[in-house]
Amino acid sequence: MDKKAYNILLFSYYRDAELRGADLILRLINRTENLDLQEKLTRHLADETNHAWLWTERIRALGGDPVRIDDGYHRHLRRKDGLPSNLLDLLALTYVVEERASKRYEEHAARSDVDPETLAVLKEMRTDEDWHLAWVSEKLQELEQTEGAEKVSATLNRYRALEAEAFAEMLADEQKALNELTKE
Ligand SMILES: [Fe+2]
Ligand SMILES: [Fe+2]
Repeated sequence: MDKKAYNILLFSYYRDAELRGADLILRLINRTENLDLQEKLTRHLADETNHAWLWTERIRALGGDPVRIDDGYHRHLRRKDGLPSNLLDLLALTYVVEERASKRYEEHAARSDVDPETLAVLKEMRTDEDWHLAWVSEKLQELEQTEGAEKVSATLNRYRALEAEAFAEMLADEQKALNELTKE
């Protein structure tokens, strides 16, 4: 198998998820008047665009070009639920997306064949993703005061189920594309 080509394609999937994640955060910024929320989201947006850039740099360092992903993770998600417009739904969606990113990167970091440069990138992102999960979780807890704990947890569960379906579909596509590379 051409490991370089494999990594270039896989990192392109990661990069695409980061870019579209940034798009979700930007939508949240534009939907809120709350200054504290805006501040956190601005930091969050800077992190996600940085992550997309770090993957771009890894791809370049491998001598490749980022591959355009037409049917990536967020496209699958949108097909499940469109794009929510209220704050609770947007935050719940952001939270489950962050959970997925953390899990994916953690799994990748645990592989036996990760090169040190990629490991460093994964480590840097992990610190950021931990903060993303922490602050979004805090905001969701605040929303429990106005929306009710039951509604918040039901919303999270709904998005977890949608996300799990979307991720499974995306992963099947991703694996197919990666397997095709191994055949070459
Ligand atoms: Fe990220
Ligand atoms: Fe994140």
